[in-house]
Amino acid sequence: MSIGARIWRLTLGLVLAFCAACSGSGDTAGSSADAGKLYVIKFPHVTAPGTPKGQTAERFKRLAEERFPGRVRVEIYPSAQLMEDSEAIEALAFGEVQMIAPSLSLFDRLTPKFQVFDLPFLFKDLDAVERFQKSPAGRALLGTLEDHNMLGLQFWHNGMKQLGGPRPLVHPSDAAGLKFRVMESDLLQAEIEAIGGTPQKMAFGEVYQALQTGTVDAQENTWSNIYSSKFYEVQPYITESNHGYIGYFVAVNKPFWESLPADLRTGLEEILAEVTEWGNARAHEINIEDRQKIADSGRSKIITLTPEELAEWQTAMRPVWDKFRDSIGPDLVDAALASSRQAP
Ligand code: LMR
Repeated sequence: MSIGARIWRLTLGLVLAFCAACSGSGDTAGSSADAGKLYVIKFPHVTAPGTPKGQTAERFKRLAEERFPGRVRVEIYPSAQLMEDSEAIEALAFGEVQMIAPSLSLFDRLTPKFQVFDLPFLFKDLDAVERFQKSPAGRALLGTLEDHNMLGLQFWHNGMKQLGGPRPLVHPSDAAGLKFRVMESDLLQAEIEAIGGTPQKMAFGEVYQALQTGTVDAQENTWSNIYSSKFYEVQPYITESNHGYIGYFVAVNKPFWESLPADLRTGLEEILAEVTEWGNARAHEINIEDRQKIADSGRSKIITLTPEELAEWQTAMRPVWDKFRDSIGPDLVDAALASSRQAP
């Protein structure tokens, strides 16, 4: 579906959500008569089952079905087998699926605020991201998309992004002229332009083949995604740049969630909080393990940058801050900077 058609569909969703709220049907709490009913939560996502998102989603399913036998079934569809992320965002707004966890980068048509997570080199590591996500300014972001029927419940980590290419990317000038796959994000597009590359927005499920056939030359992603989706088999060089973050907005369809019986809703939210702590710690380990597996495979050479080389990438990508700071909101950027700089 074209971007124009998607925007139209999401606008329609917004109108429908508004009408539901006006008529009072948008906030019907589940009644005790619903206590014996089986609720089905369809949860599509795009990464492999072994990734941080895949493992955390499976754990959520297991605990939810164990603690609420016969009352909830969580159907997980990994590896984009049901739909890609952009479609999942719409499907959630329309209540066609009940839960999603797309990358925060993919929401820029609905809100500029999540772009704060993509400002290059803002966060040094996952701990810095987590301090911000747990701060009042970070928690407030979970409510940003309620007008679109999307209730944010948690943030899940994947990891820090690395740059993969057909030649060693040691200096930003090495990226000149290369076609880079990026997620569907204007900020990420600007980031690649800032280093002289040509960005190409593309859904996750298409990346492996695009690299293999040369439709794109290069890409940015986490160790976990590079390993589990086998990008390292078709990318001879990976630069350990840690220049950005991939994390997820874990959201549910708001009318569906509010229709759940209160004990079930509270119980599921508690399980989600529990699996988030587990999964976010596990994400860190998975990325370290997958980096090692890539190194051991010998298929891709991992390039470690000197502090001076890293500084060149930081300088080259810095114009992205000037371009997006005002639309994201300077206060939000400052809040992210402040919490990310605090000592752990
Ligand atoms: C990507 O498109 O590269 C990522 O958003 C995939 C993911 O869900 O980690």
